[in-house]
Amino acid sequence: MRLELRGLTKTYGGLTALDHVNITFTEGIYGILGANGAGKSTMMNLLTDNIPRTEGQILFDGVDILRWGKDFRRVLGYMPQQQGYYEHMTAQTFLYYMADLKAIPKKRAERQIDRLLAVTGLSDVRHKKLGGYSGGMKQRVLLAQALLGNPRVVILDEPTAGLDPRERIRIRNFISSLSRGRIILLATHIVSDIESISDRILMMKKGRVVGVDTPANLIDSVADKVKELPCGSVGLERMQRWYRVGNVFQRNGETWVRVVGDQLPVEGEYVPDHLTLEDVYLYYLGE
Ligand SMILES: Nc1ncnc2c1ncn2[C@@H]1O[C@H](COP(=O)(O)OP(=O)(O)O)[C@@H](O)[C@H]1O
Ligand SMILES: [Mg+2]
Repeated sequence: MRLELRGLTKTYGGLTALDHVNITFTEGIYGILGANGAGKSTMMNLLTDNIPRTEGQILFDGVDILRWGKDFRRVLGYMPQQQGYYEHMTAQTFLYYMADLKAIPKKRAERQIDRLLAVTGLSDVRHKKLGGYSGGMKQRVLLAQALLGNPRVVILDEPTAGLDPRERIRIRNFISSLSRGRIILLATHIVSDIESISDRILMMKKGRVVGVDTPANLIDSVADKVKELPCGSVGLERMQRWYRVGNVFQRNGETWVRVVGDQLPVEGEYVPDHLTLEDVYLYYLGE
């Protein structure tokens, strides 16, 4: 199973939202990391053929998804970033409606919906209207919807947006449990959403892919790019002007900073055993 983007480009008037992206996805969870406006949703909307591309190809098992047509939709599950249209439906009605759109036979839909409601912890509230659901419950219904038809390609755009920490963890664990035999693309601008569950991380900046690798390799790649040091007489403000400053913290009554970049101060210490994906984010995607 391969999903391949070749020179994929999308422009809106003069703005290039996606700029000649080349990448091949295979089985596993890909965390797609990038600031707001980096082009994550644009990439996902092209993958789901919700918007026309400007240039390039999207190949699923070697054939362009435009040629797959309906057959590609059948292997695809999509959870969009923008929602809120189905407030008047109950979870169960909504899932049957979506199953119908996906042309899933009634009997099979019934089995799948029961199972999905159970695994997302919504069986008890299946007859409640979505309008009365909490943010986390809504996200879970949308995730359940994306999994109807047992899709081999699952595209999730900011699935934990607006959730509290407990709900984030629940959604994250659930996504993690799905990865076998599928390509899962999970877009977020929040590092902690994908740090523990991604097989690979794809970093996007201004419509371009600036790196793809395992979380461990990415963390290794910034080992000599991160230092900690006390601000001392220089002061925090000047530190921030000179360097890319991550965390600011107090140690022994002094203000310390974590700085990230190619140019680092001579002072300070490297922290090779305490690197995180936050450092990776700051190094590759920070301003
Ligand atoms: N329908 C649209 N019309 C014009 N510009 C758009 C449209 N959709 C997105 N953009 C622009 O494309 C860029 C990428 O946006 P998007 O893909 O939504 O980024 P992300 O999902 O990473 O936050 C942004 O500059 C955004 O303003
Ligand atoms: Mg987006």
